[in-house]
Amino acid sequence: MIDFHNHIIPGVDDGANDLLETKEMLLHAISQGITDVIATPHLQNPRFDDKQITDNDILTSYHELVDYIDSQKIAIKIHLSAEVFFLPNLIKLTNHPFATLGNGRYLLIEFHHAIIPLSFKTEVIKLLDAGVIPIIAHPERYIQIQDDFNNAIRLHKLGSIFQIDTGSILGHYGTKVQKTAIKFLSAGLVNFVGSDAHNSRNRNFCLEPAMKKCEQYFGHDAEILVNDNPLRLLAGKDIISLKKKKSWFSIK
Ligand SMILES: [Fe+2]
Repeated sequence: MIDFHNHIIPGVDDGANDLLETKEMLLHAISQGITDVIATPHLQNPRFDDKQITDNDILTSYHELVDYIDSQKIAIKIHLSAEVFFLPNLIKLTNHPFATLGNGRYLLIEFHHAIIPLSFKTEVIKLLDAGVIPIIAHPERYIQIQDDFNNAIRLHKLGSIFQIDTGSILGHYGTKVQKTAIKFLSAGLVNFVGSDAHNSRNRNFCLEPAMKKCEQYFGHDAEILVNDNPLRLLAGKDIISLKKKKSWFSIK
């Protein structure tokens, strides 16, 4: 399995504190059958402005991590991208050294949990015109979508695709988030499932239990969410959509 969305690069956001914590998280990931992680440190998120983390800091920490897991013989591959906070400058990030994925074809975007800005539509049009597909990070955790699922449909119709958090499927963020995640799955609107792992304590990798739920729902096709689509993402190929196999509500 490939985990798309996590904060394992140490010391650059609210994710892993140091290499030892990252190591602990990666060993946990390996125990779940994860072979690759696409690391997505927060980029331009105002919450971390006071830390003044530069792109070079992230690149340096990433390379140190790659050298470290090599020296420790930890059998997992790390790819670098980012979780980009929405500001009306996304088009400028299409040439950023690591913000995009798949030769510049995909961009993972997060919003403030309470506000999906109206200017998103204008920015999406600019991105799509430039050949970049926006991937919305954990849409089930945004209040406007929890309150009105039509807001998700609108984002979908604009040309966005979606990544759901494993913790949302498992109920770690509460019932409202879990119900919204299930709505995305039921509507066949999920393209990726990612851990959004932040630490080795209460937000670690939990892809395996979440995928067991998804397998009950989608059967073998669930693999598309954690194998086929992340591989396609890395290669800059088209992403596959899923069709549901049975009613989610019949699953225990
Ligand atoms: Fe995240």
